Amino acid sequence: MSETDDTAERQPIARLPRPTATSPTTIAVVGDPHVSTRREGGQRLPEHSEEHFRRAIADINRRDVDGTVSVGDLSANGGPWDFEAIDSLLSDLQSPFVSVPGNHDVPATSSADHEVLPQEEFEERYAGGSVPLVRQFGDVDIVGLDSMRLQRALDSEATEEQIEWLDERLVGLDDPVVMLHHPLPGMTDWLSRYEDRVEELTIPRLWENPDPLLDVLENRDVPLVLSGHKHMPGIARTRGVWEAMAPSTCTFPQGYLLLEITRSGTDVSFVPVADHEGLEEAFLRRHTAFTKTRMYASAAAILLSSPPIDARNGDTK
Ligand SMILES: [Fe+2]
Ligand SMILES: [Fe+2]
Repeated sequence: MSETDDTAERQPIARLPRPTATSPTTIAVVGDPHVSTRREGGQRLPEHSEEHFRRAIADINRRDVDGTVSVGDLSANGGPWDFEAIDSLLSDLQSPFVSVPGNHDVPATSSADHEVLPQEEFEERYAGGSVPLVRQFGDVDIVGLDSMRLQRALDSEATEEQIEWLDERLVGLDDPVVMLHHPLPGMTDWLSRYEDRVEELTIPRLWENPDPLLDVLENRDVPLVLSGHKHMPGIARTRGVWEAMAPSTCTFPQGYLLLEITRSGTDVSFVPVADHEGLEEAFLRRHTAFTKTRMYASAAAILLSSPPIDARNGDTK
């Protein structure tokens, strides 16, 4: 892949009425870098994962961002050796950074047959101490959640505690952005509408009981949720709550999201991190892996070929 000193051309994918910010605030959102130092082959292009994440960091550094957030799956599968590579890559990032964990990052949900970084250590190194978390970037508050403890009944007490924490913490925050790894049901509904048309396509339902979380997001009037996990950009609504799903830096279409937040609202853009050759290789790997990944690659291509969703002018999704 060739390298340039120019910022990549961003592609607007949504114009949302909120959040707003009194002083203009720009936030980069990276998703699912799955940094891998010991693997090769497969649809996540592990052999290019470090280079892809490095390119995203270099592009973010060339912009005037107030902060960079990660929606998780930083690592291939939680190996401490991969987190060492992540630390080395992040040492080049020039903006404040915070991450929530992804299912591949922590022992409770990693499918690894090797040592995995303890959850407490992940939170210490990447989440500023603990999850759930609140961090302010520019004029915007980011609230980070552990969605592994929300979408499945891993530990019902921890789930309830987190919901209560969120409900209390959101009071008094002005237009906070909530981020978590797993997308909300509205996002999977958007994809599952293809199930009737595509043979053998099954879009996994990620949530056992999303209602307690959705009740809080709706009642506290949260203007935007950020997620990842599906390795494709997406814009959807769940019970009226807008959600922007970050693409992965490692799989087609390799990239990250840029949020430009002003008094008028929030512009969400996709920023590519791969060149034509890299995109083609990533598309072919994703296309030939599973029916589901083929659909995600196609849905991403449709989204990036469409005009941006303009919710400030009445688009409702
Ligand atoms: Fe992932
Ligand atoms: Fe994931």
